[in-house]
Amino acid sequence: MSKQFHPKGSVIAALDIGSTKIACFIARIRDDIGNIDLIGIGHQASQGIKSGTVVDLDLAEGAIKQAVHAAENMAADVTKGYPLREVIVNVPATHSHSRLMNMGVQILGSAVTENDIRRALAKAQDQVVGNDVELIHTIPTAYRIDGHEGIKEPRGLYGQHLDVDVHMVMGNIAPLRNMASCIQSSHLDITALCSTPYAAGLACLVEDEMDMGCTVVDMGGGTTSIAVFYGRELIYTDAIPVGGQHVTNDIARGLTTSIHAAERMKTLYGSAIATATDEKDLIDVPPLGEEDSLSPNHVPRSYLVSIIAPRIEETMELVRSRLIDSGLGPIAGRRVVLTGGASQIPGLRELSQKYLEKQVRLGRPIRLQGLPDAVSGPAFSATAGLLHYVTERFNEMPAEIMATVEAGTIWQRAKLWLRENW
Ligand SMILES: Nc1ncnc2c1ncn2[C@@H]1O[C@H](COP(=O)(O)OP(=O)(O)OP(=O)(O)O)[C@@H](O)[C@H]1O
Ligand SMILES: [Mg+2]
Repeated sequence: MSKQFHPKGSVIAALDIGSTKIACFIARIRDDIGNIDLIGIGHQASQGIKSGTVVDLDLAEGAIKQAVHAAENMAADVTKGYPLREVIVNVPATHSHSRLMNMGVQILGSAVTENDIRRALAKAQDQVVGNDVELIHTIPTAYRIDGHEGIKEPRGLYGQHLDVDVHMVMGNIAPLRNMASCIQSSHLDITALCSTPYAAGLACLVEDEMDMGCTVVDMGGGTTSIAVFYGRELIYTDAIPVGGQHVTNDIARGLTTSIHAAERMKTLYGSAIATATDEKDLIDVPPLGEEDSLSPNHVPRSYLVSIIAPRIEETMELVRSRLIDSGLGPIAGRRVVLTGGASQIPGLRELSQKYLEKQVRLGRPIRLQGLPDAVSGPAFSATAGLLHYVTERFNEMPAEIMATVEAGTIWQRAKLWLRENW
């Protein structure tokens, strides 16, 4: 990795806009190797957002402002009250897609330089930019020199021709513009965009998982998103527009009760798999419109489980088929890490293990130190990961790549032209 994007002492901030909550983490860069200290936290129930999409600009803007202000207030001692100027923002994987490409550049017998790699990446970017997409990530995932496979570090190696496998994540422009306009009306600039499941993976995977192949499944309120890591890199993203809110809606409908009561029942008594005592355990269901009723209905817990399980099974079945369609096969790894608020439903790990036929563990942000309990759970994986992205992987930002491809002096440019064209 080249220079540090943010120097020691600078302040960075993550804004995670989700279907159910908006979270803002402010951090300060502690040293020259990218360690950070969390200095401000704010979170707020989402408004004006459905399945990761802004559906009401004013409501969404209001909720963003509240989350940001809470984080700013907490950080005020360190920031001396200066308002936040810039944020790193998540892009829901429902509004983006992955594209894999192979790009070749001539190196004509000299050693591969950083600039050669960037030329290949810039060439890949040139091919996909258009009016309807915004580039979010440009990630080199594998290199070949003169056809030789398996090169992890091409810099300094001699050869004639360098091939780079490039994974690009591209966002759909319209939903991104709506999101950007809410953020800009809150007087904030977007410094970087990062795919939500990618951020979640950066926060909750350990090095070996990223290296050997691992699939992250972030189950949020309105979306379940997927990120596949291999050889430390993000190689694939995808999403299904189904999440915990769908489970809650199913319960409300199935038991004819309010969304509020359904959410409470889900969190207190819900489970994705049946247990022996479910028939005997009775739970109170306040009838719709009679929340204060002194005579709630009683239903066995097994009935609640019979509503929850099919929705989770369907979601896992969809995740499984997306992974099959991706064509990644064994590269996607034998391991799955489940995270996101909705991953907390008991029995989910066992059920997904069965459906995905992989080893499954639950994940939460483990790499950000000093997270208070209230934000250390799986719902905040993506929020924490946005900070890791901008400190550790800033060289995957498309604008960075474009800005640093050096054409240099006229003489260097002429050589570059020769390399490209001969
Ligand atoms: N203890 C719990 N058991 C089961 N589900 C829970 C629990 N706590 C939270 N949830 C569910 O988690 C979901 C919210 O998760 P999260 O905060 O990750 O979503 P989000 O980031 O706002 O949404 P998205 O990423 O889909 O846009 C809600 O549907 C909520 O019901
Ligand atoms: Mg989320």
